[in-house]
Amino acid sequence: MPVNWKKIDDSKKPSQEKAIPKLEAPEMQQLETFLPKQPQRCLADLIVSESILDQIQTTLNRILHHDTLYNTWNLKKIDPQGRRTAINFFGPPGTGKTFCAEAIAHHLGKSIITVNYSEIESKYVGETPKNITAAFKKAQEADAVLFFDEADSILGKRLTNVTQSADHGVNISRSVMLLQLDDFDGVVIFASNLPENYDGAFVRRILAHIEFELPDEACRFRLWDYLLPDQVPRSQDVSAKWLATQSEGLSGGDILNVVKLAASQAVVRSGDQWQVFQSDFQAAINQVRRGKEKVGVVSAQNAPPMIRETILSPDELSPELRDRYEASVLQLSANTPELDA
Ligand SMILES: Nc1ncnc2c1ncn2[C@@H]1O[C@H](COP(=O)(O)OP(=O)(O)OP(=O)(O)O)[C@@H](O)[C@H]1O
Ligand SMILES: [Mg+2]
Repeated sequence: MPVNWKKIDDSKKPSQEKAIPKLEAPEMQQLETFLPKQPQRCLADLIVSESILDQIQTTLNRILHHDTLYNTWNLKKIDPQGRRTAINFFGPPGTGKTFCAEAIAHHLGKSIITVNYSEIESKYVGETPKNITAAFKKAQEADAVLFFDEADSILGKRLTNVTQSADHGVNISRSVMLLQLDDFDGVVIFASNLPENYDGAFVRRILAHIEFELPDEACRFRLWDYLLPDQVPRSQDVSAKWLATQSEGLSGGDILNVVKLAASQAVVRSGDQWQVFQSDFQAAINQVRRGKEKVGVVSAQNAPPMIRETILSPDELSPELRDRYEASVLQLSANTPELDA
């Protein structure tokens, strides 16, 4: 074992007495899952281009000046249900989409409910639509911003050639999502790395699609300044300007990882070596770049076959599927539990 390494002491097992009780009822799990949280980020800290900021500001104007827009300027004439504001953030990982969703909630003085697809996807056919309904209901009651992360999974194109029951479940979930979105009159934000997959019906219901791009050199400069704490000791030649020139192609999330890696490399040294050098940053940047190139990238050879998809509205479903769809919507409105605020 290398010097300086300590064996991890895993002899203390978690106490068996305090075993967490298993939640059986799906509605109990929903209550646990869709908890509104106070946002921890603010727009002043978001580092993006002027163009992205302008687009964010315009969507905020639509929410903050609703009365003037819809009553005085009579936009309700063209958009009678106009309370809902749906926004979509798309772009590469780590560019600040989740950060921005929280910052918007903060700016509006609202709490935020974050829903990850994995949380609402249920292996039991029929549970997913209930979870979707519960999330919207909870957001309405708590007047919270509803944030769907990994939204491509849930807003993806509905399948036309439905042959298996799991696919029926997917179609029903997406149709229920459409219905819920139409009924909702709060703020809903979607975020995705794979927006190509969005069903056109969702694209139309979303007011603004805002692309988060990788930061240019000026934004990287500000990101380094923001993400590298003053307390981290560094050699004199390490500056935000130098770091910005070295880190082309990295996102804010990547820069965060570089800071952690470079600092972790230096922290075990001693004396005048107890600081982060340019070489530490360079090694960490290379490591993060290699990871981006090689991990999570599907090569053309191994890529799964494409599924041919077209968009289906509920009216276009086959009679059998339409019956199932209507039955599950009815069942949903009857069975969705009342959630406490
Ligand atoms: N534009 C930015 N401004 C300020 N900080 C940023 C920005 N982009 C990334 N960061 C930092 O990186 C972290 C990760 O970013 P975030 O989770 O918002 O990325 P994301 O776009 O949601 O990524 P993913 O697509 O993987 O979900 C943030 O918590 C923040 O510390
Ligand atoms: Mg995110």
